[in-house]
Formats: sequence, structure tokens, C-alpha cells
Amino acid sequence: MISKKLETALNKQINEEIFSAYLYLSMSAYFLSLNLDGFASWMKAQAQEEMSHAMKFFHFLDEMEGRVSLRAVQEPEKEWKSPLAAFTAAHKHEQHISSCIHELYRQAGAESCFPMQIMLQWFIKEQVEEEASAAKIVHDLSLVKDSTQGLWMINRELGARKPG
Ligand code: FEO
Repeated sequence: MISKKLETALNKQINEEIFSAYLYLSMSAYFLSLNLDGFASWMKAQAQEEMSHAMKFFHFLDEMEGRVSLRAVQEPEKEWKSPLAAFTAAHKHEQHISSCIHELYRQAGAESCFPMQIMLQWFIKEQVEEEASAAKIVHDLSLVKDSTQGLWMINRELGARKPG
């Protein structure tokens, strides 16, 4: 059994994860519009990963005899000034998600909900990777600046990412 307070907090996080998927899918469409297929494919894989995060919370809440309650998903942005601006926004978004996860962990601790804390430990580790991978791409894009060749190389590298 889970408290109403934690149930509400987990439902909010399901929405955050689905919004993340929506945001990255919107970024994927933006990259397709620039003919940067590798960037677009990376973002599509990221969107799929976000849906799997949403489903982890979904199943956990159900297993804990909570009620999953889906909310409206916010409309994501559609345009960015540059690939660097899009990845900077993605990195900032991951920092926001990390702080949501940390807050959930604190709330679970305050109620001694140990199963939720254990479940969240996976996400705490995952967020370290999520922030680091976005930060690396921001760094690489900052290095190449306006070089078409540099952008092409990153595009090729990102296109090699496998989904999941
Ligand atoms: Fe589900 Fe990228 O955090």
C-alpha cells in the first residue's frame, strides 16, 4: 500500500517522464527538419527511453496498490536556435528531472516507504548517466561551433545509438 501523498507524487512523475518523451520527440522532428538524421535518431531513441521510465513508475505504482491517474501532457517547444541550443535545453531538462527524482526520494524517506526508495535508486543512477550524456554532446557541439564538418561527424556518431 502507498500513501495518497506518494501516489500523487508518482503520478506527477509519470507525467514528467511522458513530457520528457514528448520533448525529445519534438527535438527529433526539429533535427529531421534540418536533415540531421543522426541527431533525430538519437532523440527518438531518447524519447523511447523516457516512455520506458514512465512505465517503470506506472507499474511500480500499480504494484503498490496505488491508482495510476494520467494528466494532460504539456505542449513541448518545437524550434531551437541551433543544435547546441536544443542539446543545452535537453541537458537543463535532465537536471530538472534529477531534482524531481531526488525530491521523490526525500518524500519516500519521510514516510519510510523503503520499496519506493529502492525503486528510485535505479533512477538516481540513471540520471547521472542521462545528465552526463547530454553534457558530453553539449560539450562536443560547443567545440565544433559552426563547422559543417564537425556537425556532420557528431551527426554520424549520434546516429549509431541503438534504441533502449
Ligand atoms: Fe527519464 Fe531523461 O529522465
